[in-house]
Amino acid sequence: GPFRAGDLVAPDGCAVDRRLFVEDSVYRLEQERIFARCWLYVGHESELQGNGAFITTTMGEDPVIVVRDLAGRLRAFLNSCSHRGAKVCRADKGVTKTFRCPYHSWTFSTEGQLISVPRQSSVYGEGFDRSLLGLREVPHVDTIGGMIFACWDPAAPPLRDYLGDMTFYLDLMLTRMEGGTEAIGGVHKWTIDVNWKIPSENFAGDHYHVPSTHGAGVEMGYRSPLTNNGYCIQTGNGHSIGSERGGAQQGKAVQTGYEDFMADMRAQLVARYGEAASAFTPIGVGTLFPNFSFLDSARFRSFRVWHPRGVDKIEVYSWCIVDKAMPAELKAAVRKQYSLAFGPGGIFEQDDGDIWQSVQDALRGHVGRQGRFNYQMGLGREAPTSQLYGPPFPGSCSDILMTEANQRAFYRHYARLMTDKEA
Ligand code: FES
Ligand code: FE
Repeated sequence: GPFRAGDLVAPDGCAVDRRLFVEDSVYRLEQERIFARCWLYVGHESELQGNGAFITTTMGEDPVIVVRDLAGRLRAFLNSCSHRGAKVCRADKGVTKTFRCPYHSWTFSTEGQLISVPRQSSVYGEGFDRSLLGLREVPHVDTIGGMIFACWDPAAPPLRDYLGDMTFYLDLMLTRMEGGTEAIGGVHKWTIDVNWKIPSENFAGDHYHVPSTHGAGVEMGYRSPLTNNGYCIQTGNGHSIGSERGGAQQGKAVQTGYEDFMADMRAQLVARYGEAASAFTPIGVGTLFPNFSFLDSARFRSFRVWHPRGVDKIEVYSWCIVDKAMPAELKAAVRKQYSLAFGPGGIFEQDDGDIWQSVQDALRGHVGRQGRFNYQMGLGREAPTSQLYGPPFPGSCSDILMTEANQRAFYRHYARLMTDKEA
C-alpha cells in the first residue's frame, strides 16, 4: 500500500520500521521518490580529464554515462539505447568521440544525439527522424569541490541549495589546498548483501559501533580508542557529519607522515576559520542524503556510494581521495592506508560488511521483519553548531560523539520524501 510516514518512521525519527529494509514495495517507491529526485554523486572531476572522457555508473538502479562532451561540458545520459534499450556503453571508463550501441550499432554523439543508423535509408526510408531518438539526458549536472552530482528531477533545487549548510563543511574538507582534490587508483567496486540505508545511516553518525565492531583494529594499534569527545552535526535535507574533535589519531602501527601534513592543514584552516576549525581537521565521516558517504580520517580519505541493487543488496563504489598538491610519496602512503582499512579487503570494511550482512539476514524471516529499530541515543542534546563552535559553523550539533541525532535526521528526511510527492 502507500507509504505512511508516521507508520514506518516515528515523527521524531526515534523508531524505524524493519519493513523499510525488506519490502519490495518500499524499494520501488524509493527508486521513484528518492533516487529519481535527489542529487546523486556520480563521480569525481579528476576521472574525466579531457573532452570525450567518460565514466559509467548508476543513479539508483538506472545506469548512466557521465561524459565531458567534445565541447568540454559535463553531461549525463541514461545508458540505454533509444532503439531497444541495450547499454550503449559497456566500459567503466574511457575516452571516446561517439557511443556505438553494440546491439544494432546506432551511434550517439557525446552530446547525446543519434548521429548514425546502419542502412538508414534502405531500412527506415523517409520520415525517420533521428533528432527525436537521442539518449535520454539527465537534466541537471553540477559540481562542487571536484565532486560531480546529477539529478533526474527537472524541478530540483540547485545543487548548492540541496546541500545547504553541508556546502560549508565540504568547502572546509575539499578546498584546504590550492588545486583541490583528486581520486587516485581507480574505483573499487564490490557487493554487500544489505539494504542501502544501513551503510548510509552508519556513515551518517554511527560512532557507537566503533569500539565494538572495530575492536580488533583498536587492539592492534591501528587507531586510537574512541572517546565521546566530538560532534554530530545535521546540516538539513538528511545530510550530516560526525567526528571526534580533530579526528581519531592513527595508531603506532601505521605512521605515514600524513599526520604532519594534517597538522599543517589544521594550522592553515585555523588561520582561515578561527581556532574551532582544528576540531574539523580531519572532518570525520558523513553522509550526503541519500547514498553518498565520505570518510576523512587522520590516515586517508575515501568517498563511497552505496548503490542500491535490489532491496537486500548494494554495490559499493569506493575512491581514495587525496589533495592534488600533496607529494607523490605521501599520496602513495595514503592510498595504501585507505586500502588496508577501507578497500574491499580492508580490515574495517570487512568488519562492517560482515555485521551489515548479518542485519539483513536477520530480517529475512516472517518474524524478523516485524517491529522497529531504535534510534533514541542522545535525544534532546542538539543545539545550533555556532553555539558550541562559534560562527561560521552552521547546522544543528550535538556536543557528544555517541548520539543517533544524525540517523534521526536522515530518516525524518527520508519519510518526508517518501510521503510527499512534491517534497
Ligand atoms: Fe541499440 Fe538497437 S538496441 S541499436
Ligand atoms: Fe564501521
